[in-house]
Amino acid sequence: MTRINVTKPFFPPIEEYNEYLHKIWEDEQLTNQGPFVVELEAAAKKYLGISDFQFVANGTLALQLALRALDITDGEVITTPFTYVATTSAILWERCTPVYVDIEPETFCIDTDKIEAAITPLTKAIMAVHVFGFPCNIEKIQEIADRHNLKVIYDAAHAFGATHKGKSLLDFGDISICSFHATKLFHTVEGGGIIAQDPAVSNKLDIMKRFGHNGDTHLALGINAKNSELHAAMGLCNLKYIDDLIAKRKTLHEQYTKELHNKFKLPKIQDTSVYNYSYYPVTFDTGADMNKAIKALNEKDIFPRRYFYPSLNTLPYLGTTKDCPISEDIASRILCLPFYAGLEEQVVNNICEVLKK
Ligand SMILES: Cc1ncc(COP(=O)(O)O)c(C=O)c1O
Repeated sequence: MTRINVTKPFFPPIEEYNEYLHKIWEDEQLTNQGPFVVELEAAAKKYLGISDFQFVANGTLALQLALRALDITDGEVITTPFTYVATTSAILWERCTPVYVDIEPETFCIDTDKIEAAITPLTKAIMAVHVFGFPCNIEKIQEIADRHNLKVIYDAAHAFGATHKGKSLLDFGDISICSFHATKLFHTVEGGGIIAQDPAVSNKLDIMKRFGHNGDTHLALGINAKNSELHAAMGLCNLKYIDDLIAKRKTLHEQYTKELHNKFKLPKIQDTSVYNYSYYPVTFDTGADMNKAIKALNEKDIFPRRYFYPSLNTLPYLGTTKDCPISEDIASRILCLPFYAGLEEQVVNNICEVLKK
């Protein structure tokens, strides 16, 4: 039996990657904003229809840079407990305090009706997540941020290729970030994107991501968040396949939904959004049901993943945090099913058969 994991990285044809490698070997430039990084940045802007985009080392550093570039170096950041741990780590690593606001049960995104109650004089920003590529309530978040003079950072790690009201989901807030980790829908092996609305902030990010200096002129405290020509080359290869990958995932998504819609609570895709088919989460009635399903699937060498678990407000290294009953409940009984272009229809059928039993 071939082991089926929750996801599998896309590999472009090796000859296509080799062509880029030959060019890199000829040019002898491996990093430091080389031609493929520049080309990838331009191609991503064009594909997404956005005017700013910087290619960085990964999504986690992009979140850290976002906080720094917006001068958020202390205080509280309102965020969601239902996401990958990196959202919280970036806040903590930058020595800010995450303040968790519970999520909406339908979209799994931060519940905007509960944000204002969490604002204190120490609040500096809202860091929301378009989790699984589902859009947050963007208009409401902006309205609250404007009223309270807060910055908005979107962790759009899952949102490459998704849109909201005709615009890329990466084009909202003061800053949005994306992850291009190998398991993501669009990947560069490791990598991330950072998009700022204000050109001055974008400029600051550009300086900060490469040690804070321009030649001999040292302008600000920086870090090394650049990415390399080898990673950019992978991105350029993969970008050619992105529409095809999304189309294949859409077919699998529909197949899962057709089989499972009577049995499970499935993701709700909003009317205002074009989905990128990045994940297939299913919510069970109870954690015990979910564990039974995991066991039955594992016996067939199929390995779904508990995404996202635990609810981050319960992380053991945090001080006291507020309860987030909806996030804690959903995290205890949600599973992401195997989902990637190239997953065979027969395997999806097998997974659905096991789950229906
Ligand atoms: C929601 C979310 N935020 C941030 C990250 C961090 O991205 P990276 O792995 O590129 O650092 C990830 C994924 O890995 C993620 O899923």
